[in-house]
Amino acid sequence: MAARTSTRFLINKLKDSICFIQKRNRVKTKWASTRAKLPATNLALQHFDMVYKNHLGDLWPSVRAGMLSEQKYGALINSYTSGADDVITALCSQGCRDFIRDSETAEMKQETEELIEPAAGSSHISSNIQCFVFPRGDISRFRPARPGSDGLLGYYLLDAASILPVLALDVQPGDSVLDLCAGPGGKTLAILQSQTVRFLWANDASGSRTARLQRTLQSYIPKELRGEDRIRVTSVDGRKWRTMDDHAFDRVLVDVPCTTDRHSLLEEENNIFKRSRTKERQKLPLLQIELLLAGIRATRPGGVLLYSTCSLSPLQNECVVEQAVSLAQQDMGIAVQPQDLGGFTRLFKNTFRFAPERAVGELVLPHLCANFGPIYMCKLVRLA
Ligand SMILES: C[S@@+](CC[C@H](N)C(=O)[O-])C[C@H]1O[C@@H](n2cnc3c(N)ncnc32)[C@H](O)[C@@H]1O
Repeated sequence: MAARTSTRFLINKLKDSICFIQKRNRVKTKWASTRAKLPATNLALQHFDMVYKNHLGDLWPSVRAGMLSEQKYGALINSYTSGADDVITALCSQGCRDFIRDSETAEMKQETEELIEPAAGSSHISSNIQCFVFPRGDISRFRPARPGSDGLLGYYLLDAASILPVLALDVQPGDSVLDLCAGPGGKTLAILQSQTVRFLWANDASGSRTARLQRTLQSYIPKELRGEDRIRVTSVDGRKWRTMDDHAFDRVLVDVPCTTDRHSLLEEENNIFKRSRTKERQKLPLLQIELLLAGIRATRPGGVLLYSTCSLSPLQNECVVEQAVSLAQQDMGIAVQPQDLGGFTRLFKNTFRFAPERAVGELVLPHLCANFGPIYMCKLVRLA
C-alpha cells in the first residue's frame, strides 16, 4: 500500500512538472500549424542552453563547445584475442597510452615520492581492463579494428569515459553480474575484459539492441566462453526484472536510457528531442527510477550497484539516485548507501575533466582538450 502511494505521488509530481512545461510553451493552434519545424538537434541545443547554463554556470560554454565538436574515443583492448600484444604494440607506436595503467602508475609514483598513504576513497582497479587513448589535445582517430588469426577483433571503440562506471563497479573474482540495460554492449564487453566474472546476465528491452549485443559478443569473445552457464542474454523490460528471476547478483550495472546529450545535439536520427517524442523524454526520469529500483532489488545484500547515464541533466542523474534510494527504503525496506568516488576523480583527473563536487555521484564533463563524456555515475552499496 505504502509502495503504491509513494510511487503514485512521484508520478503525480512528474506529471505536474510536465503540465507546467506544456502550459508555458503552449502555442495557439493557428500559430502551431504554421510554426517552422526546427530540427530536433536545434531543439536539444535550445533546451540545454536553458537548463545547463543554470546548472553548470561558467563551465557551460566550454562543455557546449566540446559537445558540439567531434568526440574522442578510446580503444578497449580485447584480451581474449591471441593477437592482443601486437594490437597494443601498434597502438603504442601511434602514440596512444593505456589511461588506466598510466593513472595507476602515476598515483603510485606520487604516493612513493611523497611517502603518503593511499588516498581515502581510492579504488581498486581491475588491471585486466586496458583502454588506449590518444594524448590530451590530440584528436587523431583510431583505425577500425581488424580481426586476428583467431577471427576475434582486437579492440572495441567507445567513449573512454564509459569505461569508468565499469571500473567503479569493481567486479571481484567469482562475481555474478547483471547488466540490466546492456545494448549495444560496450560496457558488457568491458565487464568481460576484467576476466573475473563467474556469470554475466546481459539484458536489454530492445530486440534490435540485444541482437547487436549478441553480434558484439560473437566478434570479441571465444565461443567456448559464451555458453549459457557463463553469459546469458535476454530481452525483457528491466522494470519487470523481479518477475523474471530471483537470483541476487554480486554486481549490478544500471546504465539507463537517457537524453544521450551528445547524440541529441549532433544526430537527427533517433533523436529524443523530436516533438513527437516529447512525452517519452519527459517520462525518462520516472523510467530511470523504476529501472534503478529493479536493479536495487536484484542486488544481494552487501552487493554493489552502479547507476550511469550519458547526460548532464541533474533530473536524470542525482535526482533519480536520491528518489530511488529513498523509495527503496520506504517501500521495500532496502537500505542503499551511495559511495564516495573521490578516489576515482583523483586517479583519472589527467585524462578526464570532472564536474566540481556533487551531492551524489561523479560527472565527466566534455572539454575540447579531453572530449569524452558526458558520463554520470553513482556507485551504491546495498546494505540489507
Ligand atoms: C544507455 S543505453 C545502454 C548502453 C550500454 N550499456 C552500452 O554500454 O553499450 C540504454 C539501453 O537501455 C535500453 N532500455 C530502454 N528501456 C529499457 C527497459 N525498460 N528495460 C531494459 N532496457 C531498456 C535501451 O534499449 C538501450 O539500449
